[in-house]
Amino acid sequence: MKLLVTGGAGFIGSNFIHYWFRNYPKDHIINLDKLTYAGNLENLKEVENNQNYTFIKGDISDMNIVKKALEGIDIVVNFAAESHVDRSILNPAPFVLTNVVGTQVLLDASVEAKVKRFHHVSTDEVYGALELESPKKFTEETMYSPKSPYAASKAASDHLVRAYFHTYHLPITITNSSNNFGPYQFPEKLISLAATNLLEGKKVPVYGDGLYVRDWLYVEDHCAAIDLVITKGKIGETYCIGIDNDISNIQVIKKILEILEMKEDKIEYVKDRPGHDRRYAIDATKIKKELRWKPKFDFVTALHKTVTWYKENKDWWQKLRDKNFENYYQKQYILRNET
Ligand code: NAD
Ligand code: TYD
Repeated sequence: MKLLVTGGAGFIGSNFIHYWFRNYPKDHIINLDKLTYAGNLENLKEVENNQNYTFIKGDISDMNIVKKALEGIDIVVNFAAESHVDRSILNPAPFVLTNVVGTQVLLDASVEAKVKRFHHVSTDEVYGALELESPKKFTEETMYSPKSPYAASKAASDHLVRAYFHTYHLPITITNSSNNFGPYQFPEKLISLAATNLLEGKKVPVYGDGLYVRDWLYVEDHCAAIDLVITKGKIGETYCIGIDNDISNIQVIKKILEILEMKEDKIEYVKDRPGHDRRYAIDATKIKKELRWKPKFDFVTALHKTVTWYKENKDWWQKLRDKNFENYYQKQYILRNET
Protein backbone atom coordinates (compact mmCIF):
# COMPACT_ATOMS: atom_id res chain seq x y z
CA MET A 1 0.00 0.00 0.00
CA LYS A 2 1.08 3.55 -0.64
CA LEU A 3 -0.20 6.21 1.76
CA LEU A 4 -0.23 9.98 1.50
CA VAL A 5 -0.11 11.36 5.02
CA THR A 6 -0.71 15.12 5.14
CA GLY A 7 0.51 17.07 8.16
CA GLY A 8 2.80 14.15 9.00
CA ALA A 9 5.38 16.43 10.64
CA GLY A 10 2.92 17.53 13.31
CA PHE A 11 2.03 15.88 16.59
CA ILE A 12 -0.50 13.19 15.67
CA GLY A 13 0.70 12.80 12.07
CA SER A 14 4.28 11.99 13.11
CA ASN A 15 3.07 9.55 15.77
CA PHE A 16 0.89 7.97 13.08
CA ILE A 17 3.84 7.55 10.68
CA HIS A 18 5.86 5.80 13.42
CA TYR A 19 2.84 3.66 14.29
CA TRP A 20 2.21 2.71 10.66
CA PHE A 21 5.80 1.68 9.94
CA ARG A 22 5.88 -0.40 13.15
CA ASN A 23 2.76 -2.26 11.98
CA TYR A 24 3.11 -2.20 8.19
CA PRO A 25 6.86 -1.92 7.46
CA LYS A 26 6.42 -2.80 3.80
CA ASP A 27 4.04 0.08 3.04
CA HIS A 28 5.20 3.33 1.46
CA ILE A 29 4.42 6.67 3.06
CA ILE A 30 4.58 10.08 1.40
CA ASN A 31 4.43 12.84 3.99
CA LEU A 32 3.16 16.17 2.60
CA ASP A 33 3.62 18.95 5.13
CA LYS A 34 3.92 22.72 4.88
CA LEU A 35 6.11 22.87 7.99
CA THR A 36 4.25 25.63 9.78
CA TYR A 37 5.35 26.49 13.33
CA ALA A 38 3.76 23.15 14.35
CA GLY A 39 5.54 20.99 11.78
CA ASN A 40 8.86 19.56 12.89
CA LEU A 41 11.02 17.11 10.96
CA GLU A 42 12.84 16.17 14.16
CA ASN A 43 9.73 14.15 15.02
CA LEU A 44 10.61 11.87 12.11
CA LYS A 45 14.38 11.42 12.50
CA GLU A 46 14.01 7.65 12.98
CA VAL A 47 12.31 7.21 9.61
CA GLU A 48 14.05 9.80 7.44
CA ASN A 49 16.41 7.21 5.94
CA ASN A 50 13.73 4.57 5.49
CA GLN A 51 13.52 3.80 1.77
CA ASN A 52 9.75 3.51 2.05
CA TYR A 53 9.43 7.08 3.34
CA THR A 54 9.40 10.33 1.33
CA PHE A 55 8.94 13.86 2.62
CA ILE A 56 7.48 16.60 0.43
CA LYS A 57 7.39 20.16 1.74
CA GLY A 58 4.19 21.72 0.48
CA ASP A 59 0.76 23.12 1.16
CA ILE A 60 -2.41 21.00 0.83
CA SER A 61 -4.07 23.97 -0.85
CA ASP A 62 -1.49 23.95 -3.67
CA MET A 63 -3.14 21.81 -6.38
CA ASN A 64 0.09 21.21 -8.35
CA ILE A 65 2.00 19.86 -5.37
CA VAL A 66 -0.98 17.83 -4.19
CA LYS A 67 -1.43 16.23 -7.62
CA LYS A 68 2.23 15.19 -7.69
CA ALA A 69 2.10 13.88 -4.13
CA LEU A 70 -0.95 11.77 -5.03
CA GLU A 71 0.73 9.83 -7.85
CA GLY A 72 0.25 6.10 -7.19
CA ILE A 73 -1.41 6.70 -3.80
CA ASP A 74 -3.95 4.19 -2.45
CA ILE A 75 -4.88 5.85 0.84
CA VAL A 76 -4.91 9.50 1.92
CA VAL A 77 -4.84 10.27 5.63
CA ASN A 78 -5.50 13.95 6.17
CA PHE A 79 -4.00 15.33 9.38
CA ALA A 80 -2.85 18.68 7.93
CA ALA A 81 -4.55 21.51 9.79
CA GLU A 82 -4.15 24.55 11.92
CA SER A 83 -5.04 22.91 15.21
CA HIS A 84 -4.95 25.29 18.18
CA VAL A 85 -8.16 26.97 19.41
CA ASP A 86 -6.37 29.93 21.05
CA ARG A 87 -4.46 30.74 17.84
CA SER A 88 -7.75 30.55 15.91
CA ILE A 89 -9.19 33.20 18.22
CA LEU A 90 -6.15 35.44 17.70
CA ASN A 91 -6.16 34.94 13.89
CA PRO A 92 -8.83 32.81 12.15
CA ALA A 93 -7.70 33.30 8.51
CA PRO A 94 -5.09 30.50 8.27
CA PHE A 95 -7.64 28.10 9.78
CA VAL A 96 -10.06 28.72 6.93
CA LEU A 97 -7.31 28.57 4.31
CA THR A 98 -5.80 25.26 5.44
CA ASN A 99 -8.67 23.46 7.12
CA VAL A 100 -11.40 24.39 4.64
CA VAL A 101 -9.78 25.39 1.33
CA GLY A 102 -6.86 22.99 1.77
CA THR A 103 -9.20 20.07 2.44
CA GLN A 104 -11.28 20.97 -0.61
CA VAL A 105 -8.19 21.00 -2.86
CA LEU A 106 -7.06 17.65 -1.44
CA LEU A 107 -10.54 16.23 -2.01
CA ASP A 108 -10.67 17.42 -5.65
CA ALA A 109 -7.27 15.93 -6.37
CA SER A 110 -8.19 12.68 -4.60
CA VAL A 111 -11.32 12.28 -6.74
CA GLU A 112 -9.20 12.75 -9.85
CA ALA A 113 -6.51 10.34 -8.60
CA LYS A 114 -9.21 7.75 -7.79
CA VAL A 115 -7.75 6.94 -4.38
CA LYS A 116 -9.11 3.86 -2.63
CA ARG A 117 -9.67 5.71 0.63
CA PHE A 118 -9.70 9.30 1.87
CA HIS A 119 -9.53 9.29 5.64
CA HIS A 120 -10.15 12.63 7.34
CA VAL A 121 -8.92 13.19 10.89
CA SER A 122 -11.27 15.44 12.81
CA THR A 123 -12.20 16.50 16.30
CA ASP A 124 -15.06 16.28 18.79
CA GLU A 125 -14.99 20.10 18.96
CA VAL A 126 -17.27 20.23 15.89
CA TYR A 127 -20.14 19.17 18.17
CA GLY A 128 -19.82 22.24 20.41
CA ALA A 129 -20.11 22.11 24.20
CA LEU A 130 -21.90 19.93 26.75
CA GLU A 131 -23.07 21.16 30.13
CA LEU A 132 -21.08 20.13 33.20
CA GLU A 133 -23.91 18.37 35.00
CA SER A 134 -25.44 16.75 31.92
CA PRO A 135 -25.11 12.98 31.37
CA LYS A 136 -24.96 13.57 27.58
CA LYS A 137 -22.01 12.56 25.43
CA PHE A 138 -21.23 13.22 21.78
CA THR A 139 -22.06 10.47 19.29
CA GLU A 140 -21.84 10.23 15.51
CA GLU A 141 -25.45 11.51 15.42
CA THR A 142 -24.87 14.68 17.46
CA MET A 143 -25.68 17.87 15.58
CA TYR A 144 -22.71 20.05 14.64
CA SER A 145 -22.48 23.23 16.71
CA PRO A 146 -18.90 24.54 16.59
CA LYS A 147 -18.07 27.49 18.82
CA SER A 148 -14.47 28.51 17.99
CA PRO A 149 -13.04 29.48 14.59
CA TYR A 150 -10.92 26.28 14.79
CA ALA A 151 -13.96 24.09 15.44
CA ALA A 152 -15.97 25.88 12.73
CA SER A 153 -13.21 25.32 10.18
CA LYS A 154 -12.97 21.61 11.09
CA ALA A 155 -16.77 21.32 10.90
CA ALA A 156 -16.71 22.84 7.41
CA SER A 157 -14.01 20.39 6.35
CA ASP A 158 -16.03 17.42 7.69
CA HIS A 159 -19.08 18.60 5.72
CA LEU A 160 -16.98 18.88 2.55
CA VAL A 161 -15.56 15.37 3.03
CA ARG A 162 -19.09 13.93 3.41
CA ALA A 163 -20.34 15.95 0.43
CA TYR A 164 -17.59 14.42 -1.75
CA PHE A 165 -18.75 10.96 -0.71
CA HIS A 166 -22.34 11.68 -1.72
CA THR A 167 -21.61 13.75 -4.82
CA TYR A 168 -18.49 12.15 -6.30
CA HIS A 169 -18.54 8.75 -4.53
CA LEU A 170 -15.12 9.42 -3.04
CA PRO A 171 -14.55 6.50 -0.60
CA ILE A 172 -14.22 8.47 2.62
CA THR A 173 -14.14 7.80 6.35
CA ILE A 174 -13.97 10.36 9.15
CA THR A 175 -12.86 10.08 12.78
CA ASN A 176 -13.80 12.67 15.41
CA SER A 177 -11.59 12.20 18.41
CA SER A 178 -11.27 13.84 21.79
CA ASN A 179 -8.17 15.79 22.93
CA ASN A 180 -4.91 13.95 22.32
CA PHE A 181 -1.70 13.95 24.35
CA GLY A 182 1.67 12.23 24.11
CA PRO A 183 5.18 12.73 22.72
CA TYR A 184 5.90 15.37 20.03
CA GLN A 185 2.95 17.62 20.91
CA PHE A 186 3.84 21.26 20.28
CA PRO A 187 4.10 22.91 23.73
CA GLU A 188 0.95 25.02 23.36
CA LYS A 189 -1.85 22.57 24.28
CA LEU A 190 -2.82 22.11 27.94
CA ILE A 191 -0.75 19.01 28.80
CA SER A 192 2.35 19.80 26.71
CA LEU A 193 2.32 23.44 27.86
CA ALA A 194 1.85 22.51 31.51
CA ALA A 195 4.66 19.93 31.49
CA THR A 196 7.13 22.18 29.66
CA ASN A 197 6.28 25.30 31.69
CA LEU A 198 6.81 23.38 34.93
CA LEU A 199 10.06 21.84 33.71
CA GLU A 200 11.26 25.39 32.93
CA GLY A 201 10.35 26.56 36.44
CA LYS A 202 7.29 28.52 35.25
CA LYS A 203 3.68 28.37 36.41
CA VAL A 204 0.78 26.70 34.60
CA PRO A 205 -1.88 29.14 33.34
CA VAL A 206 -5.38 27.83 34.07
CA TYR A 207 -8.22 29.47 32.16
CA GLY A 208 -11.26 30.65 34.17
CA ASP A 209 -12.29 28.36 37.01
CA GLY A 210 -10.31 25.37 35.66
CA LEU A 211 -13.44 23.21 35.78
CA TYR A 212 -13.65 22.67 32.02
CA VAL A 213 -13.82 19.00 31.16
CA ARG A 214 -12.05 17.02 28.43
CA ASP A 215 -11.56 13.30 27.68
CA TRP A 216 -7.81 12.98 27.05
CA LEU A 217 -6.82 10.25 24.59
CA TYR A 218 -3.25 8.92 24.35
CA VAL A 219 -2.01 9.53 20.82
CA GLU A 220 -1.03 5.89 20.21
CA ASP A 221 -4.59 4.76 20.94
CA HIS A 222 -5.81 7.36 18.46
CA CYS A 223 -3.42 6.01 15.78
CA ALA A 224 -4.64 2.45 16.39
CA ALA A 225 -8.24 3.61 16.02
CA ILE A 226 -7.47 5.37 12.72
CA ASP A 227 -5.75 2.17 11.53
CA LEU A 228 -8.90 0.13 12.30
CA VAL A 229 -11.14 2.65 10.54
CA ILE A 230 -8.90 2.67 7.45
CA THR A 231 -8.58 -1.11 7.26
CA LYS A 232 -12.00 -2.23 8.55
CA GLY A 233 -14.28 0.81 8.69
CA LYS A 234 -17.28 1.22 6.46
CA ILE A 235 -16.96 3.66 3.56
CA GLY A 236 -18.91 6.88 4.09
CA GLU A 237 -19.01 6.42 7.87
CA THR A 238 -17.91 8.52 10.82
CA TYR A 239 -16.44 7.10 14.04
CA CYS A 240 -16.11 8.98 17.34
CA ILE A 241 -13.06 8.16 19.48
CA GLY A 242 -12.65 8.76 23.22
CA ILE A 243 -11.77 6.77 26.35
CA ASP A 244 -14.66 7.62 28.68
CA ASN A 245 -12.42 9.42 31.13
CA ASP A 246 -13.91 12.87 31.62
CA ILE A 247 -11.54 14.95 33.73
CA SER A 248 -11.33 18.66 34.59
CA ASN A 249 -8.34 20.78 33.60
CA ILE A 250 -7.44 21.46 37.22
CA GLN A 251 -7.40 17.72 38.00
CA VAL A 252 -5.13 17.12 34.99
CA ILE A 253 -2.72 19.81 36.20
CA LYS A 254 -2.70 18.48 39.75
CA LYS A 255 -1.78 15.03 38.41
CA ILE A 256 1.08 16.53 36.38
CA LEU A 257 2.31 18.35 39.50
CA GLU A 258 2.17 15.07 41.41
CA ILE A 259 4.20 13.28 38.73
CA LEU A 260 6.83 16.04 38.79
CA GLU A 261 6.73 16.17 42.62
CA MET A 262 5.86 19.85 42.58
CA LYS A 263 3.48 21.90 44.73
CA GLU A 264 0.18 23.53 43.84
CA ASP A 265 1.69 27.04 44.13
CA LYS A 266 2.69 26.47 40.48
CA ILE A 267 -0.95 26.94 39.42
CA GLU A 268 -1.90 30.38 38.14
CA TYR A 269 -5.52 31.23 37.31
CA VAL A 270 -5.72 33.52 34.27
CA LYS A 271 -8.41 35.18 32.15
CA ASP A 272 -10.81 32.73 30.54
CA ARG A 273 -10.82 31.81 26.85
CA PRO A 274 -13.67 33.58 24.98
CA GLY A 275 -16.41 31.12 23.92
CA HIS A 276 -14.75 28.43 26.07
CA ASP A 277 -16.50 25.05 25.59
CA ARG A 278 -17.43 23.78 29.08
CA ARG A 279 -17.29 20.07 28.48
CA TYR A 280 -16.50 17.54 25.77
CA ALA A 281 -17.34 13.86 26.24
CA ILE A 282 -17.45 11.05 23.72
CA ASP A 283 -19.57 7.96 23.45
CA ALA A 284 -17.27 5.61 21.52
CA THR A 285 -19.71 2.68 21.39
CA LYS A 286 -19.76 2.54 17.59
CA ILE A 287 -16.02 2.04 17.04
CA LYS A 288 -15.82 -0.32 20.02
CA LYS A 289 -18.70 -2.50 18.83
CA GLU A 290 -18.22 -2.41 15.07
CA LEU A 291 -14.43 -2.42 14.87
CA ARG A 292 -13.50 -3.86 18.29
CA TRP A 293 -11.35 -0.84 19.14
CA LYS A 294 -10.24 -0.65 22.76
CA PRO A 295 -7.82 1.88 24.24
CA LYS A 296 -4.60 0.24 25.46
CA PHE A 297 -3.58 3.05 27.81
CA ASP A 298 -5.39 4.34 30.88
CA PHE A 299 -5.12 8.08 31.41
CA VAL A 300 -2.84 8.11 34.46
CA THR A 301 -0.32 5.61 33.03
CA ALA A 302 -0.21 7.49 29.73
CA LEU A 303 0.15 10.84 31.50
CA HIS A 304 3.12 9.46 33.44
CA LYS A 305 4.68 8.22 30.21
CA THR A 306 4.08 11.57 28.51
CA VAL A 307 5.40 13.81 31.30
CA THR A 308 8.47 11.57 31.57
CA TRP A 309 8.99 11.94 27.80
CA TYR A 310 9.00 15.76 28.10
CA LYS A 311 11.38 15.49 31.06
CA GLU A 312 13.77 13.32 29.07
CA ASN A 313 13.48 15.21 25.78
CA LYS A 314 14.15 18.81 26.75
CA ASP A 315 16.26 19.29 23.61
CA TRP A 316 13.19 18.60 21.51
CA TRP A 317 10.89 21.20 23.07
CA GLN A 318 13.33 23.85 24.27
CA LYS A 319 14.16 24.70 20.63
CA LEU A 320 10.47 25.20 19.93
CA ARG A 321 10.07 27.78 22.68
CA ASP A 322 11.86 30.37 20.53
CA LYS A 323 11.18 34.04 19.67
CA ASN A 324 8.01 33.23 17.71
CA PHE A 325 6.73 31.15 20.60
CA GLU A 326 7.58 33.95 23.01
CA ASN A 327 5.57 36.41 20.85
CA TYR A 328 2.61 34.06 20.88
CA TYR A 329 2.95 33.53 24.64
CA GLN A 330 3.03 37.28 25.26
CA LYS A 331 -0.15 37.84 23.21
CA GLN A 332 -1.99 34.84 24.61
CA TYR A 333 -1.01 34.94 28.26
CA ILE A 334 0.53 38.27 29.22
CA LEU A 335 -1.11 41.05 27.16
CA ARG A 336 -4.58 39.42 27.25
CA ASN A 337 -4.47 39.35 31.05
CA GLU A 338 -3.60 43.03 31.26
CA THR A 339 -6.71 44.15 29.34
P1 NAD B 1 -0.40 19.90 14.74
O1 NAD B 1 -0.74 21.36 14.77
O2 NAD B 1 0.57 19.35 15.71
O3 NAD B 1 0.14 19.51 13.28
C1 NAD B 1 -0.42 19.97 12.11
C2 NAD B 1 0.55 19.67 10.97
O4 NAD B 1 -0.05 20.11 9.75
C3 NAD B 1 1.88 20.41 11.09
O5 NAD B 1 2.95 19.53 10.78
C4 NAD B 1 1.78 21.51 10.05
O6 NAD B 1 3.03 21.89 9.51
C5 NAD B 1 0.91 20.85 8.99
N1 NAD B 1 0.17 21.83 8.18
C6 NAD B 1 -0.51 22.93 8.58
N2 NAD B 1 -1.02 23.56 7.53
C7 NAD B 1 -0.69 22.85 6.42
C8 NAD B 1 -0.96 23.00 5.04
N3 NAD B 1 -1.67 24.02 4.58
N4 NAD B 1 -0.47 22.07 4.19
C9 NAD B 1 0.28 21.01 4.65
N5 NAD B 1 0.56 20.85 5.95
C10 NAD B 1 0.08 21.74 6.83
O7 NAD B 1 -1.80 19.16 14.82
P2 NAD B 1 -2.19 17.78 15.50
O8 NAD B 1 -2.49 18.02 16.91
O9 NAD B 1 -1.18 16.77 15.11
O10 NAD B 1 -3.57 17.48 14.76
C11 NAD B 1 -3.60 16.74 13.56
C12 NAD B 1 -5.03 16.62 13.10
O11 NAD B 1 -5.81 15.98 14.10
C13 NAD B 1 -5.71 17.96 12.83
O12 NAD B 1 -6.52 17.84 11.70
C14 NAD B 1 -6.56 18.19 14.07
O13 NAD B 1 -7.69 18.97 13.77
C15 NAD B 1 -6.93 16.77 14.43
N6 NAD B 1 -7.20 16.53 15.85
C16 NAD B 1 -6.31 16.93 16.80
C17 NAD B 1 -6.56 16.67 18.14
C18 NAD B 1 -5.58 17.07 19.22
O14 NAD B 1 -5.90 16.95 20.39
N7 NAD B 1 -4.39 17.51 18.89
C19 NAD B 1 -7.73 16.01 18.51
C20 NAD B 1 -8.63 15.61 17.51
C21 NAD B 1 -8.35 15.87 16.18
P1 TYD C 1 -6.34 22.76 24.65
O1 TYD C 1 -5.22 21.85 24.98
O2 TYD C 1 -6.04 24.05 23.99
O3 TYD C 1 -7.39 21.92 23.81
P2 TYD C 1 -8.92 22.29 23.38
O4 TYD C 1 -9.16 23.72 23.56
O5 TYD C 1 -8.87 21.92 21.96
O6 TYD C 1 -9.78 21.42 24.21
O7 TYD C 1 -7.12 23.08 25.98
C1 TYD C 1 -7.64 22.04 26.79
C2 TYD C 1 -8.36 22.67 27.95
O8 TYD C 1 -7.40 23.34 28.78
C3 TYD C 1 -9.36 23.74 27.55
O9 TYD C 1 -10.44 23.73 28.45
C4 TYD C 1 -8.58 25.04 27.70
C5 TYD C 1 -7.67 24.76 28.88
N1 TYD C 1 -6.35 25.45 28.89
C6 TYD C 1 -5.95 26.15 30.03
O10 TYD C 1 -6.67 26.21 31.05
N2 TYD C 1 -4.73 26.77 29.99
C7 TYD C 1 -3.92 26.73 28.90
O11 TYD C 1 -2.82 27.34 28.93
C8 TYD C 1 -4.34 25.99 27.74
C9 TYD C 1 -3.48 25.93 26.51
C10 TYD C 1 -5.57 25.36 27.80
